[in-house]
Amino acid sequence: MANILVLHGPNLNMLGQREPAIYGTVTLRDLDARLKERAQAQGHSVTIIQSNSEAELIVGVQQAPAAQCKFMIINAAALTHTSIGLRDALKMTAIPFIEVHLSNIYARESFRRHSYLSDIAQGTIAGLGVDGYVYALQFAMQQI
Ligand code: DQA
Repeated sequence: MANILVLHGPNLNMLGQREPAIYGTVTLRDLDARLKERAQAQGHSVTIIQSNSEAELIVGVQQAPAAQCKFMIINAAALTHTSIGLRDALKMTAIPFIEVHLSNIYARESFRRHSYLSDIAQGTIAGLGVDGYVYALQFAMQQI
């Protein structure tokens, strides 16, 4: 049994209502329930943090080693494109993580094409909607 940390960044609390043509109609609550159920079915646990605050997400990453977290799944949302602080925290903990985006960030505005996380992630899944999180979780459970 291992603990997997799922981090959702700013505005993802609005999933389901937020630009549904881009981000879909599934709510964060439903997505989180799906991830918890799948992890539990294989004897693992997930800790989920959603925050609109960069500082809170950084603290979540800093605390991950003490929480015995073995893998992380991160959709840093807009912070993907701006946050060197989150990148530094992820690099410091050295826990493997997958970067997930609901939308295909490479097929949108040019400012979304740069990620501060991709080169230190084990992999990136973008454009597969909420299924991207499920695939990331599947991979994480195979690894740990
Ligand atoms: C996002 C893509 C980001 O560019 C955007 O700022 C988000 C969500 C996605 O899941 O597609 O908030 O990370």
